[in-house]
Order: sequence, then structure tokens, then C-alpha cells
Amino acid sequence: MKKLTTAAGAPVADNQNILTAGPRGPALLQDVWLIEKLAHFDREVIPERRMHAKGAGAFGTFKVTHDITQYTRAKIFSSVGKETPVVMRFSTVAGERGAADAERDIRGVAMKFYTEEGNWDLVGNNTPVFFFRDPLKFPDLNHAVKRDPRTGMRSAQNNWEFWTGLPEALHQVTIVMSDRGIPRDFRHMHAFGSHTFSFINAGNERYWVKFTFKTQQGIQNLTDAEAAELVGRDRESSQRDLFDSIEKKDFPRWTLFVQIMPEKEAGKYHINPFDLTKVWPHKDYPLIEVGVLELNRNPENFFADIEQAAFNPANVVPGIGFSPDRMLQGRLFSYGDAQRYRLGVNHHQIPVNAPKCPFHSFHRDGAMRVDGNYGGITGNEPNAQGEWQEQPDFREPPLSLEGAADHWNHRVDEDYYSQPGALFRLMNDTQKQALFDNTARAIAGVTREVQLLHIEHCTKADPAYGAGVKAALGL
Ligand code: HEM
Repeated sequence: MKKLTTAAGAPVADNQNILTAGPRGPALLQDVWLIEKLAHFDREVIPERRMHAKGAGAFGTFKVTHDITQYTRAKIFSSVGKETPVVMRFSTVAGERGAADAERDIRGVAMKFYTEEGNWDLVGNNTPVFFFRDPLKFPDLNHAVKRDPRTGMRSAQNNWEFWTGLPEALHQVTIVMSDRGIPRDFRHMHAFGSHTFSFINAGNERYWVKFTFKTQQGIQNLTDAEAAELVGRDRESSQRDLFDSIEKKDFPRWTLFVQIMPEKEAGKYHINPFDLTKVWPHKDYPLIEVGVLELNRNPENFFADIEQAAFNPANVVPGIGFSPDRMLQGRLFSYGDAQRYRLGVNHHQIPVNAPKCPFHSFHRDGAMRVDGNYGGITGNEPNAQGEWQEQPDFREPPLSLEGAADHWNHRVDEDYYSQPGALFRLMNDTQKQALFDNTARAIAGVTREVQLLHIEHCTKADPAYGAGVKAALGL
């Protein structure tokens, strides 16, 4: 048994009674243990993530099963059978840190692969698309789905006004309102990188790539009624399911697939391949199997490993890169910035965030620097000692760009409806009815004007979609 000490290591003699002047008298300021204990407690809360505050996570392994070295030189994919450790966090989007899990909402799926050339973070969702195409709208989404500034309550009106004001949102809204809108838990859903990223191979050729993780547990969802009943019994249903299955050694697995587009095809493809509101149909870009992700270890300490985890789309490794997707470009700034605020400038040193490979990253000082701060090594580059040398072998091939700088209107592509329409037509009659009914329940209580605007968007996707929602609303 370990004995209790103060943070400074001195023995604590009494952890039951504070120091008082006499048995019924007031406290003495010199009870430093009382003051230390309360002062620490007063600071135990750190800011929650602005979005995706409620979540759960675990550790595991990614194993390569198929060779994709013709497309990428990333070491994580360098040979069949290779294993890389992973930490993964699942989340809902709109709810705060104490929110219930079984809500109709997107699920976030963040992965950090500890590769031998640095950490690769894939920070995606359980849907392949997103509500819009321009990162300027992201703070507005946050304001629309979170609490109303006047009432402090969630507001369906704010939510639907925002969505219906952006016709490109219909694809994502259709998924969220569909029978897949409330996954039963985190294990029974797919995960998507959503954006287009790039692969660079050993010959320095670039490919555009999308990542899809298909659940090996099968898809399972809840109806609105099942979710309401479940939330009444258990607000942590998805978190508990993940934790319990890993404790029981029933390890969840996902199969990773990629879709690959040669660099030059991007300009010719009939869809803008960097538009996050659209998928690449599998008939054009089939799924190529890559490997298996397994979660097999619960964290020993939730706060240390999951609350303090910092996933950042800017964390890529040689052989994996970005794309011109303007949403991705916005995210490249936002995550590290949020984490410098949420966790501090030295959050890379927190063990769950630190690379498992050797690293030598130049930064010095800052709050909570606890790793020796690179000791006496010179702090400038270039220098006579040859410290901090850049590594030109890892340069990416140049990417040709053209065009004048302007606030280019992304609405020149007015095809908001063909993919949600195609998705609707893939649904069977039961799924279509669930979509109509879920939508009607979610949009009830919102002004008639907004309801009619949504029906108009649905009708443009497919007349039967609009008619179904209209009938479900009793209009
Ligand atoms: C969390 C910004 C779009 C998935 C966050 C956080 C920020 C943010 C600031 C909190 C990060 C932290 O405190 O650690 C943005 C911006 C976006 C955007 C500015 C658009 C311009 C997306 C998209 C996806 C996504 C398109 C999925 C494809 C996630 C996930 C998390 C997250 C999964 C939680 C990560 C975790 O588990 O720690 N986002 N986001 N976000 N975002 Fe986004």
C-alpha cells in the first residue's frame, strides 16, 4: 500500500480532520494540506472540446493485409503483416461532455497511428460527407446545433434554419435523419476519413485517396423510440458498450479500404473530387482492401489517455498528404490551435500524444515543459553543430495550381441534389418511411417556412422524398 503525501512529497498525517482552533473552532490557514487539496480540486476541469466533447476511446493495432505500396510510401503500409499501434476516440458532435450517447447525431471517429515516421491522425466521422464545403461555416454550425444564446437550450429552429439555408447540406442531413442516424453504439458503424487526402509513392507520384473503415461487427442502429428508452436507462450506452466488450476480450474490428484516383484525373472527373458534400461512387473508384484495425486495450485512466488526447488532421507522415479540399485546409489550422488552448502549447508531450518513434522537434519552453527542454542543445538553425537539420528526402512532389486569388464562389457547382437523391433511391420502403418519420419528428415545432424549404430541397433530390416528408408532417 502506498502512503499519502502532499504533492511535494511530505507525509500527510491526517486526511480526515482539518486543522482548527479548538474542537469547535474555525480553520487555520496553515493547514496547507487542506488548501492544496481544495486548490487542486478547483482546477481539475479543463475546457471540453468545442465540438465532439462527449466521447470514449481505446488502444489497439492496425495490421496490413494487402499491399498498397504502389500508391504510397507511408511506412505504416510498407509490408503485409505489419502492425502499428493506435489510439482511437469516438464521440458525438453536438452534446457537451455530460451528454447522453444515444442521440441522433453524427459520430466522430478519431484515430492516431503511432508510425515509425511520426503520428498519423485520421480525424473522421461515421458519414462519408459533411454539411457544407467551406470552413467559414463551421463556427455557424457549432452555434446552430449547440445552445441558443438566449434560452441556453438546444433549438431545432436554429438547427433547421441553418441546414435549410445551405442546400449542399441535404446529403449529410439525409444520412443523419435516416435509419443510420442513431448508431446502436460505436462498434456497429463504419468510419470514414471523409475528405480526399493524397498518397505519394516511392516514385514520387501523387494519388488522391479516400479512407473507409467498414465495421466487422455489422451495422446496428436505434430507432428514435429505442434511443429514448435507452437514454432513460443509460446515458453512457456507447461508451459502456465499447469498454465492456474490450474488457470481455470481444475486440471490435474494422476493415480499412481506400479509393484511389490518379492525380491528373481530378481535373477531368465529373465530380469535384475535393467537395466534402459528395462521395466518389464505388463504380468509378472501387474499394481497395488494405488492412484491419482492432481495438484491444482499455485506457488505464480516461482523463490521461482520452480526455487529453489531441487528434489533428495536420498530423500526416511521409507518403500521406493533404488535398485542396477547402474544408480540410480550414481544419489544418483549427485543431492544433484548439489544442494549444485546451491542453497547452506543450500538449505533444502528454504520453498519449507523443510519437513512439524518435523525434527532435526544435520547440523550446512554454507552459508545462517537463521533458528536459532539449537541455543545452543550440536553439538556432543553421548552426555550426549541424543540429536541427531539415530532411529534403521527404519533400512532396510539386502540386500544380492555377488561378487568381479571390473569394471564389463554391456555389458554381449547383449539384446539391443528385447524390442525396441517389442515396434515397437506394433505401428500401421501410428505410424511406424511417427517414420521413425521423425528419418529421426532428423538424416538428420549427416554423412552417423552414419546413417547406426543407421539403423543397427533398423534392429536388427526389419527388418521393419530398412527398414522404410532407405526408409525415401532415401537410
Ligand atoms: C473535433 C474543428 C470539420 C471530425 C474538433 C475540434 C475542433 C474542430 C476545433 C476540437 C479539437 C480538440 O479540442 O481537440 C473543425 C473545423 C471543421 C471541422 C474548423 C471544418 C472546417 C470536421 C469534419 C470532421 C470532423 C469534416 C470529420 C470528417 C472531428 C472529430 C473531432 C473533432 C472526430 C473529435 C476528435 C477527438 O476525438 O478528439 N473539430 N472540425 N470535424 N472534429 Fe472537427
